[in-house]
Amino acid sequence: MGEIKQREIALKQGEQVNIRTASETDAAAILDLYRSVLAEGRYTLLLLEEMQRTEEEERKDIANEIKRPGCLRVVAEVDGLIVGMARVKAGGLQRTAHFGDVDSVWVHAEWRRHGIGNALMGAIVRWSEGEKGIEKLGLFVFSTSEAAIALYHRNGFTIEGRAPRDIKFAEGDYADTVIMGRMVD
Ligand SMILES: CC(C)(COP(=O)(O)OP(=O)(O)OC[C@H]1O[C@@H](n2cnc3c(N)ncnc32)[C@H](O)[C@@H]1OP(=O)(O)O)[C@@H](O)C(=O)NCCC(=O)NCCS
Repeated sequence: MGEIKQREIALKQGEQVNIRTASETDAAAILDLYRSVLAEGRYTLLLLEEMQRTEEEERKDIANEIKRPGCLRVVAEVDGLIVGMARVKAGGLQRTAHFGDVDSVWVHAEWRRHGIGNALMGAIVRWSEGEKGIEKLGLFVFSTSEAAIALYHRNGFTIEGRAPRDIKFAEGDYADTVIMGRMVD
């Protein structure tokens, strides 16, 4: 089930971060975080102007994820502010239910390199080890997102493949899709 025990972790600069399961009341703060990453322009498939998600839709998704086996959404909170999140969703079919698709790994730009990404991915990996039926975690990442690729390597993921020029930022400006995964012990 999509829940973890809340954990307080001391960050590199000494601040405390609370890593916990997302709740429906986080919907607005999560959308603010998402918009801030969209506004950076280089890390998402969606453009900021294409974003139509409402708070109500986000709230419903969070509520469903908590109930669904093989799904988890975790947030990182510093002084009551949501500064990061990550999510994993198992497939809905018998042949995909063993595979947890990791997505929406975001840390607010002002909070990067403090150890929050690692804390979020650590929580996902630990949870997957105790979640019945999950045998593998996998994800897609832009080849240009070096920080994310390094974060995933550091958390036991390896590169499984690459799809050249999948993403077009602008004329002559492309990224490959990098496929990464790790088995769950
Ligand atoms: C990727 C991201 C989540 C990392 O979050 P973070 O909180 O800065 O990561 P951490 O501080 O926990 O760093 C964890 C590890 O990732 C790697 N890393 C993080 N930022 C890095 C950077 N800018 N360059 C190289 N490696 C980096 C390092 O290995 C680091 O470990 P170390 O500090 O012990 O060397 C963050 O940069 C982000 O939100 N980026 C934009 C959104 C994005 O690309 N998301 C991924 C979508 S697939």
